[in-house]
Amino acid sequence: MQSEAPTSSPRHVAIIMDGNGRWAEARGLPRTAGHRAGVERVREAVRTAGEAGIEYLTLFAFSSENWRRPEQEVSDLMGLLRFFVRKDLAELHRENVRVKVIGCRQNIQPDIRALLTDAENRTRENTGITLVIAFNYGARDELVRAARKLVEDVQSGVLDAAAIDEAAVSGRVDTAGIPDPDVVIRTSGEQRLSNFLLWQAAYSEFVFLPCLWPDFDRAAFHEALVEYAGRERRFGVVSAPCIAVGS
Ligand code: FPP
Repeated sequence: MQSEAPTSSPRHVAIIMDGNGRWAEARGLPRTAGHRAGVERVREAVRTAGEAGIEYLTLFAFSSENWRRPEQEVSDLMGLLRFFVRKDLAELHRENVRVKVIGCRQNIQPDIRALLTDAENRTRENTGITLVIAFNYGARDELVRAARKLVEDVQSGVLDAAAIDEAAVSGRVDTAGIPDPDVVIRTSGEQRLSNFLLWQAAYSEFVFLPCLWPDFDRAAFHEALVEYAGRERRFGVVSAPCIAVGS
C-alpha cells in the first residue's frame, strides 16, 4: 500500500534491532545476554510507540538468514521468542495491541508457528497499535512468495496478467493492508537494509543511530522521531515554488 500525504508524525515505524551481540561482547557476556536485554527494549519500544501515536511498529526479530548463526544462538533466540509471546501476549492484549506476524511460516518449529498464529488470532480485534513481528522474514523471499501468488491467481482466473500493477503486488506481500513504513530505524551504526521490507521501504526515510539495540531507550526512540520530523518527504515530486501572482 502506498504511503499517504507526508506528515511529521509517522504512522508506521519499522526497526532493524541491531547490536545485541556487540552489546554483550563489550560486557564480556554471552551473545544471548544481549538478546535478552534486547527483549526488554522491545517491550519499551512498543509502549513508547503507542504513547507517540504510532499506528504500526514493525520489528525485525529474526531474518531468514539468521538460521545460519551458531545452533546455540538460534536455539536461544527461539527460546526468547517463545518466552516473549507466552509471557507478554496477555499484557499486550490487555493494552489493546494487535499482533501481526510477517515472514515465511514454513520450515519453522510447529509450536512457534502455533504461538504466532494464536497471538494474531487473539489480538485480531484490538484497535490499538499494531505490532508487526518480522520472523523468519526476508524481503526477497517475501517477493518470491508474492510472485507465486500472482501466478496462481492468473492461472486460476482471479487476475488478468495485464492488470498486474503495484497494488496487485502490495496486496500479495506479507504486509498487505498495512501502510508502507514512513521511517526505517536501524541501530548499531550499520547503514544497510539487510533484506528488510525492500518493496515497502521505497519511499521510507532512514534513520541510522549509533546506539546498540539494548541501549535503545525512550530517549533514543524520541531522538529518531525528531530526526524523522525534520525530513522533507517529496515522494518523487518537486515541491512547487511560491510564485507571486503577476510575477
Ligand atoms: C541483531 O543483533 C539482532 C537480532 C538478530 C535479533 C533481534 C532479536 C531480539 C531483540 C530479541 C527477540 C525479539 C522479539 C520480538 C522477542 P546481532 O546479534 O546481529 O548483534 P551484532 O551485530 O552486534 O552481532
